[in-house]
Amino acid sequence: MAEQRQTRGPASVEKEEAEEEEEEEVRSEVPDSLSGKYTGSFAYLTIKDRLPKILTKAVDTVHRHTDVFFAQHGQEGVEAEKRAIGLLSKLRNELQTDKPALPLTDELPDVPQWNKYLEQQQARLGTEENTSWFKAPWLYMECYMYRRIHEALQLNPPICDFDVFNEAKTQGFLESQQAITALSAHLQEINKNVKSFKQTQIKAELLHVLQVALWGNRCDLSISAGLANSQKLNPLTSLESLKPFILIDDFEFVWSHLICSKKKKTSETAHTRVDIVLDNSGFELVADLVLADFLIACQLADEVHFHGKAIPWFVSDTTKKDFDWTLKQMKTSSHPQMSKCAVAWEEYMTKGVWIYQDHPFWTLPHEFCDMSLVANDLYVELQKSNLIFFKGDLNYRKLTGDRKWSYTVSFETALRGFHPAPLCSLRTLKADIQVGLQPGLGEQLAGSDPDWMTSGQYAIIQFSNQFRK
Ligand code: F6P
Ligand code: MG
Repeated sequence: MAEQRQTRGPASVEKEEAEEEEEEEVRSEVPDSLSGKYTGSFAYLTIKDRLPKILTKAVDTVHRHTDVFFAQHGQEGVEAEKRAIGLLSKLRNELQTDKPALPLTDELPDVPQWNKYLEQQQARLGTEENTSWFKAPWLYMECYMYRRIHEALQLNPPICDFDVFNEAKTQGFLESQQAITALSAHLQEINKNVKSFKQTQIKAELLHVLQVALWGNRCDLSISAGLANSQKLNPLTSLESLKPFILIDDFEFVWSHLICSKKKKTSETAHTRVDIVLDNSGFELVADLVLADFLIACQLADEVHFHGKAIPWFVSDTTKKDFDWTLKQMKTSSHPQMSKCAVAWEEYMTKGVWIYQDHPFWTLPHEFCDMSLVANDLYVELQKSNLIFFKGDLNYRKLTGDRKWSYTVSFETALRGFHPAPLCSLRTLKADIQVGLQPGLGEQLAGSDPDWMTSGQYAIIQFSNQFRK
């Protein structure tokens, strides 16, 4: 793993070389993608049960907005609504009858990339039939569903900007008020004193806010098939009891890396940049913003870049609209601490200390190891970072290619050359993929809890500072 982990004597060098050889062998054999073709797997159950539920909910949401569409656009809005519902229902039918993926037909700029990907999949899988919902790679089909939902709206102006998941995201945020208030108050308190903090205090507080951001990833509305899934209690009080559920805890490496970057800064003008590839809106987003705020306040970062989604995605993922809405809600909140946080955050945005970006690559179906080929501009942009946090489960699936890796294969092997900068995954486990575990741990967990990989009860802080081709 990361170079700085090891104090190397001659014996350990030999051992390392042997391990590297073994890794090399593993690297040359890339395992198959998770897929609905594995009957009974989590992918299969997701496609069979959870995705149709999400589609049914989307249809219902559009339908319940008839009055809104009529008020905004008259009869034209109502006609658009009916057509959008027709397309969403057709999509659900294609899924449930295991039809092959169809090319996209709207006019958004990412259509050529999506349709090229479809052709490549057909060529790779042999026949058009093999690109069907249950036969193709799960990652591809699940991403495809969200892009087709977007298409159903896009093809129907004047309601094309309607976000079918907005209601659920708003509800998630509102139901987390108590937790958000507690977290905002905590941030205000630590920021008041941060200038006089010793390094050990900074480290301890960073660990707190990082763990809150980690566990915030449990609040996702895709795993709950769109049903409410918010943070009800003060997240800070449960951190200690959750520690045993962190299966990989690379916090020490994250900390050393940030401290080293800070010490290495040679001139006044040099700056440390941290990137956060965001996941869900609602409590998780607020927790990520708190982490970003603390990094700036204690000068471990001078600039934070957030990466959100350009279109509604995996139910609760953050779009620019969600990001702006969250800041506005917090700013106008009756809780002074919450609004103080948002005032400071808006200032960070205005001054360019915080930057929000939403590259279309994040809503393509590719594994991240393809980024440098498919979206080189984004890869080059990420190379400017000192540390990239990847939030959540879907980002982990894309980091590791959503493949049937063994539990013990190294993170670097599973990244398959994706290494724009040192990176760290903060993820609760909600899909049956995990790499970098200690030998035997995966088997032990499987023996005691059959749902350990998908229940969101376990988490990882997994860091990589090593580049491998
Ligand atoms: O629906 C499957 C899934 O990708 C799960 O793997 C995961 O639970 C969820 O959707 C997305 O999770 P996250 O919001 O953490 O990326
Ligand atoms: Mg998500």
